[in-house]
Amino acid sequence: MTKVLLATVLIVITFALTRAASTQMKDAMPKEAMTTTTMANQDSSIDSTDIDVIAVMNACNESFRIEMSYIQAMNESGSFLDETDKTPKCFIRCVFTNVGIVSEDGKQFNPARAAFIFAGERNGKPMDDIGDMTAACAADRQETCPCERSYQFLRCLMSMEIEKYEKS
Ligand SMILES: *[C@@H]1O[C@H](CO)[C@@H](O)[C@H](O)[C@H]1NC(C)=O
Ligand SMILES: *[C@@H]1O[C@H](CO)[C@@H](O)[C@H](O)[C@H]1NC(C)=O
Repeated sequence: MTKVLLATVLIVITFALTRAASTQMKDAMPKEAMTTTTMANQDSSIDSTDIDVIAVMNACNESFRIEMSYIQAMNESGSFLDETDKTPKCFIRCVFTNVGIVSEDGKQFNPARAAFIFAGERNGKPMDDIGDMTAACAADRQETCPCERSYQFLRCLMSMEIEKYEKS
């Protein structure tokens, strides 16, 4: 059961678990995302092949409890059920920090990294413009609270994915 739940989480958040080395990663990175990368120099500190996303999510769930229903709602509607609860938003920040999507202080996004991690299919269609989406969602973040900022980034990305791939 736990495995099924985790598999579901992985589908929803579409983290790349078994994705290969950074050479492939570079090929997969859209030009736009690369040029707008603000944390490119931090990429080397987090090797994509080393990341155990399940472990990251489990660890983050210890500090910031999140129910599966929140993750499912994020997948299906693009937002959490209850947006006043800060804890699940801090779960997102925790995961993002640990997979290299956002800097430690929660301010700087790495759109190329996010594109790499969120790459995949949606509604049976490969998301070929994921880099444009992550760049757009990273570009215009106004939130000062780090948890809110990571949450709104994810909300932006999920909303774009849904708009583009579920409704067409
Ligand atoms: C987080 O942990 C709680 C308590 O163990 C569990 O009910 C919940 O499903 C976990 N969340 C995720 C996303 O695995
Ligand atoms: C995510 O949402 C899509 C579209 O509503 C749905 O087809 C898919 O089953 C959902 N995945 C999970 C694991 O909830």
